[in-house]
Amino acid sequence: MPADSGAAEAAAILRAGGLVALPTETVYGLGANALDAPAVARIFAAKARPSFDPLISHLAEAAELEKLVGTVPAAVAVLAERFWPGPLTLIVDRPSVIPPIVTSGLETMAVRVPDHAATRELIAAAGVPVAAPSANRFGQLSPTRAEHVVAGLGAAVDVVLDGGPTRCGIESTIVDARGDRPVVLRLGALPVESLQEAVGPVLVRPGSSGQPVAPGTLAAHYAPRTRLRLATDVEPSDGGAARRGFLGFRGAPVGDWAAVEVLSSRGDLTEAAARLFDALHRLDGAGVDEILVEPVPEVGVGRAINDRLRRAAATWT
Ligand code: TXA
Ligand code: MG
Repeated sequence: MPADSGAAEAAAILRAGGLVALPTETVYGLGANALDAPAVARIFAAKARPSFDPLISHLAEAAELEKLVGTVPAAVAVLAERFWPGPLTLIVDRPSVIPPIVTSGLETMAVRVPDHAATRELIAAAGVPVAAPSANRFGQLSPTRAEHVVAGLGAAVDVVLDGGPTRCGIESTIVDARGDRPVVLRLGALPVESLQEAVGPVLVRPGSSGQPVAPGTLAAHYAPRTRLRLATDVEPSDGGAARRGFLGFRGAPVGDWAAVEVLSSRGDLTEAAARLFDALHRLDGAGVDEILVEPVPEVGVGRAINDRLRRAAATWT
């Protein structure tokens, strides 16, 4: 259903306990009424998501935060004021109206206001916070188009709102700003540099496997079905007779590639992030034996792109 005309119908589905796939500026989300534990349980089932991996709750506007959780720490309020609506998720204390299944039993909850008019209209019409992880099966590539959602989750979803390709293309940055110094738990579409301009120095501590800080930030994640390796880890001659695909930043080295995707020929990291998962979905469907990916410059949103590429590669090592 087109996102800009589907708000009322989709809101009714949410209120009735259904699942709505919705566009945001980052990636498509799989939404349910965050106050409705059985509806939230359907999200975990549809994604085959482990119950230890908590969800992000989405609000229609920043003013809803204090209504939901009461007063928040100063740095949280500053970040919400500065970056919402936008690709920033903040950690706050879980209010008792939010059932523990949303937060996997944690006493904290993750919350954000997405920068997408149709989806904010939907959340406002539903009149409840909307719990929504990325609308993909657990561990697989994130969806940046409605077609990705349909291909990955299909019948498990009651309706998919199509808002076209997402603007940022990479998930929100998750920050815990409750303590003395804000801590980045997941690199994402909002660059660390932007956070630092707003609140001074931050710590970057994205989780890794074993003891993830954000339970879902596992070392192996965001993976295509096709074997994927970092080009920097591979000798050019390693391919043998294999059909190989290449994901490059500005171009591809001369080679016998069966498929090539370039993220941004003009070297723009924002454009590269927007194209990342779409390019990986296409390479994954290209019938190659292996995908080689080239890291991008480790600056701005490039850090989040490289984080996703390393996690995708970790699945195959
Ligand atoms: O851009 C995004 O954030 C997208 C769109 C749909 O909003 N959502 C998204 O959700 O990426 P998901 O479920 O794929 O990732 C949510 C991450 C997980 O790594 C989870 O562990 C972490 O948020 N998280 C959720 N609640 C948390 C909490 N209370 N403390 C720490 N991490 C939390
Ligand atoms: Mg995800």
